[in-house]
Amino acid sequence: MINNKHVKTPFFTKLKEYGKSRVAPFDVPGHKLGKIDNDLIRYVGKRTYLLDSNSPIGLDHLNKPTGVIRDAENLMADACHAEKSYFLTNGTTTGILAMIMSVCKANDKIILPRNVHKSVINGLILSGAVPIFIKPNIDQDLGIANDITYGSVEKAIKDHPDAVAVFVINPTYFGVISDLKKITDLAHENDIIVMVDEAHGAQFYFSQKMPLSAMEAGADIAATSMHKTAGSFTQSSVILTQGKRINHQKLRATLNMLQSTSPSSLLMASIDVARKTMYFKGEEKIGKILDMAHETRERMKNIPGITVVDKEYMKKKGCFDFDETKIIIKVSELGLSGFEVYQLMKEKYNIQLELAESHIILAIVTIGTSKKDLDRLYKGFLSLSEYYHEFRDKLPKVEFEYMFPETYSRPRDAYHAPKLIVSLDDAVNEVAGESVMIYPPGIPIVIPGEVITQDVIDDIKFYSNKSKALHSDLEDAMITIVDKENWEKYSEENNEL
Ligand SMILES: Cc1ncc(COP(=O)(O)O)c(C=O)c1O
Repeated sequence: MINNKHVKTPFFTKLKEYGKSRVAPFDVPGHKLGKIDNDLIRYVGKRTYLLDSNSPIGLDHLNKPTGVIRDAENLMADACHAEKSYFLTNGTTTGILAMIMSVCKANDKIILPRNVHKSVINGLILSGAVPIFIKPNIDQDLGIANDITYGSVEKAIKDHPDAVAVFVINPTYFGVISDLKKITDLAHENDIIVMVDEAHGAQFYFSQKMPLSAMEAGADIAATSMHKTAGSFTQSSVILTQGKRINHQKLRATLNMLQSTSPSSLLMASIDVARKTMYFKGEEKIGKILDMAHETRERMKNIPGITVVDKEYMKKKGCFDFDETKIIIKVSELGLSGFEVYQLMKEKYNIQLELAESHIILAIVTIGTSKKDLDRLYKGFLSLSEYYHEFRDKLPKVEFEYMFPETYSRPRDAYHAPKLIVSLDDAVNEVAGESVMIYPPGIPIVIPGEVITQDVIDDIKFYSNKSKALHSDLEDAMITIVDKENWEKYSEENNEL
């Protein structure tokens, strides 16, 4: 049942009024509603600056909303069938940190898949929680880590009945979905909180044709990137909650610890209006893009040298469900790596893909995707196939074991431990002092506290040769390790939480 209260955009409406109110601004921001001159204002116009205010009277405070921000958050919660929502202006990254830090105390156990985003690892460091990692399902043909099974969560809970939280990704970067409802029911039977990374799942709230959202599945708390798939500005996300297990005072205090005291009004307004559009038009628009994505997949299936993944493929691989707004294309039979295709598509056809892995690329379709752009994607791949398919040997099968390394200590202990910087080749069997990952997708190859195996070093070398996106805090071919000799002494002197 459509509720017409959703035509309102309480925060955006008030923000517009304020910008037009001819106020004499003696507060910050210093551009004073656009009364300055610079290249950006000349390019985007004064209107954008009129919408950039920092909590003047009437515009409420994100840190303790009681007015128009609270009203906008309530509408967001209502649209997502949640009980409460919190706007975020530093992405789902902040949401994930706040979820973990407000639920887990130091040394509390949290059950989670190993293929999590780096923000989750940072949440473990900040909270001091102990990760109980579950190995996700692996697709050997595509070379990616997917969902987690109900059985693996059941085993983890049996082995660790004292765990305080189960963390689930809904969906993974590649659109793969675990049986969140069944996992949630099991966790709740065991009095365990369910928190969900929904960075790639905001669209689930606005169409019956989409897989189950975290709130529909009964999860306690989710961090959801409105900016990735629901049309708001980059960095704007929300936390959604329901039920009695979440301590809202602690969540609020944690958010206020992590977020700026000057949150961007443009970002908050963009969530407010995105919610309205998705509420009224989401069902129709998502239905349309699903049809377009389906049609594009069917056309692409006839292109020699590429394999297009769909729900049927994922189900055959044993995955619970798949979000078909994610277009995964296996390109290795063209004789090209995903990294090469990612570059070529931009250089030759001006097509920007979301990410590459060794044998695949990912294209993301949202309500902003046009039929014309999907046609360009199809033609780009057709042309690549004509150029390369007959003339190159296909790449060897993916070697993707995803044997995540053994844990030596909590991420927090390793983060605070004394460190050494060594060359990669000298790091075998040492304990990692940093996270190393490729971004996107931002899933760490190794995290602080894990043992650096030869496989880890091979993976880091592989990615530093193939992808420009290897992220480490250090120079190429170097890595931070824990200084084990001094660690014992350090640990004795520091009674660590
Ligand atoms: C799986 C996953 N979780 C969390 C995040 C962080 O989200 P945000 O970019 O909104 O901070 C990302 C970002 O790419 C992600 O891929």
